Amino acid sequence: MNTPLRIRPDLVPQRAIIVGVRIKGMTRRQMEKSLDELERLIDTAGGRVVGRISQEVRRIDPATFIGKGKVGEIAQLAAGREADMVAVDQDLSPIQNRNLEEALKVFVIDRTAVILDIFARRARSREGKLQVELAQLEYLAPRLVGRGFMFSQQVGRIGTRGPGETALEYDRRRIRDRIALLRSRLERVRSHRRVQRMRREAVPVPLVSLVGYTNSGKSTLLNALTGAGAFVEDKLFATLDPMVRRVRLPSGREVLVADTVGFIRRLPHELVESFKATFEEVAHAHMLLHVIDGSDDEAPVQMDVVESVLADLGLNHKPRVDVVNKCDLPHTFSPGGDAIQISALTGSGIKDLLDQMDRALRTEFRRAVLRLPIERGDVLSTLYRLGYVWKVDYNGSGILVDCELHQKFYNKYRAYALEGE
Ligand code: GTP
Repeated sequence: MNTPLRIRPDLVPQRAIIVGVRIKGMTRRQMEKSLDELERLIDTAGGRVVGRISQEVRRIDPATFIGKGKVGEIAQLAAGREADMVAVDQDLSPIQNRNLEEALKVFVIDRTAVILDIFARRARSREGKLQVELAQLEYLAPRLVGRGFMFSQQVGRIGTRGPGETALEYDRRRIRDRIALLRSRLERVRSHRRVQRMRREAVPVPLVSLVGYTNSGKSTLLNALTGAGAFVEDKLFATLDPMVRRVRLPSGREVLVADTVGFIRRLPHELVESFKATFEEVAHAHMLLHVIDGSDDEAPVQMDVVESVLADLGLNHKPRVDVVNKCDLPHTFSPGGDAIQISALTGSGIKDLLDQMDRALRTEFRRAVLRLPIERGDVLSTLYRLGYVWKVDYNGSGILVDCELHQKFYNKYRAYALEGE
C-alpha cells in the first residue's frame, strides 16, 4: 500500500517564471491578459512569480513549443532569479514538457497543470476529489516518460499535489491501477449523487445557479444572499464543488441557490469531467444568475466566454438575470438591458436582486385555489414555505387557500384543487 506524502510547508512558496506565448490568432493584449491570469493562478496555488517573459511564435516548434533562442533566455532568467519552476501559459505536449525541462534544468509545467493543482486543493466533495485526482493522473501518465526523477524531486510542489494534501503517485504502473480504482469509485459516488438529486427534485423548491467568470464574486454573492459563510477567498477558483444554500426571497418563497466553479478562457479539455458536477447543478436550475465583474475592463469578453460555454451545454435558454457586481469600484461596464448593478461586498443592490428573482420565478409558478381538509394544516404550512399564499379562508368544509405554487408541487396536490383553476 502506498502511503500518500504530506506537503512539506518548507517547500512553499515556490519561485516561478511565467512564460507567455503569443500564437497565431492571438493579440498581444490577449496574451498579456492570459499571462496575468496565469500569475494569479500561480499565486492561488501558493507560488510566487519572480519573472515574466513572452514570445510571439509564428511556427510552433514541435520539440520545445517555443523557439530555441527564447529557451536560452528563459534559462538565464530562471538561473538569475533562482526560480524553482517555469510555467508556460499554453498546453505542452508530454515531449515538449520533457525537452524544455532538460534544456532549462528546472521543473516545467503548463497551464493545465497549474489549474489542476488548484482544483486539487479546492475540491471539497468526495466526487470532486475523485474527479480531480483522476484528471491529474490521466494528465500525468504520459508525461512521466523520461521525467520520473525530475518529477519525484518535486513531490509536494505545485503540479504534483493531489486532492487532500496528498502527493500524486509517480510510478507508472501504480498510476494505472489507481486510475482504474478511481474510476470505479467515481461511478459509485455518481449513482449515489443521482439518488440525492432525485430526492431534491421531489421537493419543488426552485433551484437558482450562480454562474460567471472566475473571480467575478459568486461566492461573495452567495454569502450576501444567505449569510451562509461559503468559502470566500481572493484567489481564483475558490469554488470547485457546487455549494447549495437555502435563501428566502422577499415574497417569503424559498429557493435553493447553488454556487458553481468559475468559467475560464481556454478551459483544458482534461478538466471538463471535473466540471461536470457543477454543470449538472446548472442543468437542473430553474434560473441562472450570471455574475459579471463590472470593474474588470475585460467584462464583455468574460461575458462572451460564459455565454458560449452555456450555449455549448445547451443551457442558454434558461431564465436568467444578469448581475453586474463590484459596483462599489470604479467601473466602466454596463451591459444594459435588465442587468442589475450590485456590490456583493457592501450589499448594495441585493434587495433589488432578490425582488428581480422573485419576479423571474413567478413565471415558473401557477396560481391555484386549493380546498384542504381541515386536518391538513401540514399542507398549508408547506404552501407557506414553498409557494406564495395570497389568501386563506377557513370554513366548515375545510381550508380554502388561494396560492401560487410550482407546477410539480401543483401536480402533487392537484386532488385538492378547485375545478377551473
Ligand atoms: P471563483 O470561485 O474563482 O470562481 O471566484 P468567485 O466568482 O466565487 O469570486 P469570489 O466571491 O471568491 O470573489 C473574488 C474576489 O472579488 C474576492 O476578493 C472578493 O472579496 C472580491 N469581491 C466580490 N464581490 C465584490 C464586490 O462587490 N466589490 C468588491 N470591491 N470586491 C468584491
